Amino acid sequence: MTHHPRAHLSDPAPDLTRPITTDCLAVVGLQWGDEGKGKVIDRVSPRYDAVVRYNGGANAGHSVVFDGKRHALHLVPSGIFSERTRAVIGPGVCVDPFSLIDELERLAAAGVNVSNLVLSDRAHLVMPYHKQEDASREARLDEPDQQGKSGASQGAIGTTRRGIGPAYAEKAMRAAAVRTGDLLRPEVLRERLRIACDFKKRGNTLIDAPPESLDADRLFDQLSAIAPKLQPHLDDTTYLLHTMLRDGKPLLFEGANATLLDVDHGTFPFVTSSSTTALGISSGAGVPGRCLGQTLGIVKAYSTRVGAGPMPTELKDDTGERIRKNGNEFGTTTGRPRRCGWLDLVAVRYASMLNGTTGLAIMLLDVLAGLDELKVCVAYEIDTLRTDRFPPDAYDLVRAKPIYETLPGFAEDITAARSLDDLPAAARTYLDFIEGYVGVPIRFVSIGPDREQSIEVGGAM
Ligand code: IMP
Repeated sequence: MTHHPRAHLSDPAPDLTRPITTDCLAVVGLQWGDEGKGKVIDRVSPRYDAVVRYNGGANAGHSVVFDGKRHALHLVPSGIFSERTRAVIGPGVCVDPFSLIDELERLAAAGVNVSNLVLSDRAHLVMPYHKQEDASREARLDEPDQQGKSGASQGAIGTTRRGIGPAYAEKAMRAAAVRTGDLLRPEVLRERLRIACDFKKRGNTLIDAPPESLDADRLFDQLSAIAPKLQPHLDDTTYLLHTMLRDGKPLLFEGANATLLDVDHGTFPFVTSSSTTALGISSGAGVPGRCLGQTLGIVKAYSTRVGAGPMPTELKDDTGERIRKNGNEFGTTTGRPRRCGWLDLVAVRYASMLNGTTGLAIMLLDVLAGLDELKVCVAYEIDTLRTDRFPPDAYDLVRAKPIYETLPGFAEDITAARSLDDLPAAARTYLDFIEGYVGVPIRFVSIGPDREQSIEVGGAM
């Protein structure tokens, strides 16, 4: 392993007297994830000079379908399929290096050019012991003796077990955290791993794993072996992005996970450990928020959730089963069946407000074809109080009973529609209702998994 040449240190810093472009686009999920962000980003990314991930890790699962092939992405930004676009993993992402290499190798084998991937040297690494700790904590939370007598026990969070929580916690605790840049500094890497393993062995951190998982020398060897594969991608993405902004090159920020899983604003504690909204872009990518011209909120035409936590509109009946089957609602990352239910507009409007969305994309509308009627949640009843506010605290939300508006269903197959005019009247009524309730224009409608099965509304994004 060699030291990083740090070639970029000889590049000039961007000229700060030039204005930054304000044409950047944020694409964020407004529900509990899996809204179809990957498809939208893939479609619009050729218009942007870089697609930037700023949060999360390999817990995210985006799938992109084109030419009849499905590509599953976890860490690699969806812009990887566009030749002129850089795919950037920013400092706020927690990177599992083994999983990233797997993903790059799979994409390369499928003929995708991965040389455009740039990985921030400040991103933190998810280590094997973080994944073990994640799984151990979840198992512990599921044990009967943790269930308590008060009824306040939460049980497991239902994480993806990708080590996300422990890796972000390690970052916040600092001393034993390992960053991607450390892969190119063997002495630092060795020392950090030594501290991490020592802390974990002495502390009572929950890791139900064989002793070799805390063998610092072994981990050092494993990371040293893969470091050369990541080295060509490592760079100071902060200067890279600022140079692009001053050169007038618009960037696209790809949110991972989704708003209701945000660590600060989501349905705590059933959330992920990062800032998943557009609010997280500044810190996670290292750019000023004023570069954003548009924020597109991605909304599935119904609701899904994986993992535990309240979901007021969940359907545990035939309709829910039908949506799951029609929408192929099984996790991209874990394969788990997703919980399905009616569209929750109280939640979507809250998420839209937080992100400051300027447009909505309604995804998977075709999945609702054939249902006699479509319900949308417009308010909750919580302890006999009617409210149209979203209480993100799980302990309040769990008592929320949905109050529905019922709209007509549509029977037609809409997958061949290419404009709003091609849609049946009931589908258009559904879209109009969403737009009216949320107060933000619909800019995109997806009516099938393929790139081409899309309707763009109102000009380029
Ligand atoms: P973690 O991010 O693996 O810690 O999982 C925390 C919660 O977020 C769990 O309920 C996961 O199922 C959920 N989650 C994390 N990432 C995604 C995603 O990309 N889509 C849907 N759910 C997710």
